[in-house]
Amino acid sequence: MDVVVTPGAALRGETTVPGDKSIAHRWLILAATASGGSRLVGLPRSLDVRSTARCLAALTGKARPPLDLFAQNAVGPVEGGGSTWNAEQDLSGGIALEVEGDGREGLVAPTEVLDCGNSGTTMRLLAGVLAAAPFEAVLAGDPSLSRRPMERVAGPLREMGASIRTTDGRPPVAVYGRELHGIRFSPTVPSAQVKSAVLLAGLAADGETIVAEPAQTRDHTERALAALDAPIATYEGGVHLRRFQHRGFDASVPGDPSAAAFLIAAAALAGSALSIKGVGLNPSRLHFLDVMTRMGIRTVHAADRTELGEPVGTIEVAPCSGIVAVRVVPEELPLIIDEVPVLALLAAHAASDSWFLEAAELRVKESDRLRAIAVGITDLGGVAAEEGPDLVIAGGGLGGGRASAAGDHRMAMALMVGALAARTPSRIDGVEAADVSFPGFVSTILGLGAHVEPAG
Ligand code: S3P
Repeated sequence: MDVVVTPGAALRGETTVPGDKSIAHRWLILAATASGGSRLVGLPRSLDVRSTARCLAALTGKARPPLDLFAQNAVGPVEGGGSTWNAEQDLSGGIALEVEGDGREGLVAPTEVLDCGNSGTTMRLLAGVLAAAPFEAVLAGDPSLSRRPMERVAGPLREMGASIRTTDGRPPVAVYGRELHGIRFSPTVPSAQVKSAVLLAGLAADGETIVAEPAQTRDHTERALAALDAPIATYEGGVHLRRFQHRGFDASVPGDPSAAAFLIAAAALAGSALSIKGVGLNPSRLHFLDVMTRMGIRTVHAADRTELGEPVGTIEVAPCSGIVAVRVVPEELPLIIDEVPVLALLAAHAASDSWFLEAAELRVKESDRLRAIAVGITDLGGVAAEEGPDLVIAGGGLGGGRASAAGDHRMAMALMVGALAARTPSRIDGVEAADVSFPGFVSTILGLGAHVEPAG
């Protein structure tokens, strides 16, 4: 679907965002491998999370029917979800799912290749779970996922004892589960997916598993395991874990702060106040708010509850009077890795140059985002360039133009947000990509007052 975004509208009010994608992947995996029943509320309809459910359905017995239902979006409470373009539907409510786990030992050999769709998190986390399962499973994905590096996760899992084959370092990935032993793992690239895969394997390993990251990444796996009473602790610069079989649990998935980032940016560009309720406020996900503060965007947030170790609450955005250029240093990158596209589109509206230094990891995301951002900003009438591993964005605003999401969900939303403050209307092609993480994105911004319509 292609849309025309007409600038100049105010975006204000109160809203919610879909359930957190990162957390939903982890909690679904933990529910499907728990001993006993779990009830998850507020699961997002995003395609990525359904990919995890689809793969887990193929690996489970008792848990299969509800996981299948959710994955297929077939009947019952999941009916009608998933459409980016539907102003009538309330897509924010999320889905409730009851899953009966048989423990890790209850996992069954899949009869087909496990299709991870567009989701790197699905593939890497499941590789960790399957590393100890006594059968062979093959993980595959769509053309974008098939280009992404998998040795970074296969390497440590092999070291733990699993037998894993990648295809020239990329998917498909064949995992032959084995008896595992703990390792001390010091990744060279900071990655929450890789850390989580090793920790999920460590739950089934003999001895201690330690992950010592070169820089902090999101800690949802650690928090969930601690809330489930697993023997996990962080000290001496590493996460330490021992073998553990967790029980079932009940929890409500917090709203996704990475989805909220697009709405905060949209409100800031419109100079409006906005309140976002029920958002996950895990500090390892909120560094983008610090970067936004440096860019002149004032927000406050406060937690009002905790779900399986995750703080949840409200983010309030104050009216913004102008975007300030920013310099993002390499140490910050792992903590804002998913928000760089929207921060970059904000930066295009600053008065001077902004820099994102040593951002090469963006090249191996759902698309080469370093290039996609530079091309997208240029196509919308701005000036941006890749300079080796760095990204430089000249301020001065966007003139308006025509840009394509090129199949990347975060680019689809970032381009729409940037276009909201351009000097003339813009056409954005392929906005349905947003369904991967934020089904209902267009309906949400329409509801807040944005002017977006289907391109003729
Ligand atoms: C994620 C970790 C990040 C992030 C991705 C979700 C996770 O990837 O970009 O969207 O849920 O663990 P990396 O681990 O590759 O940095």
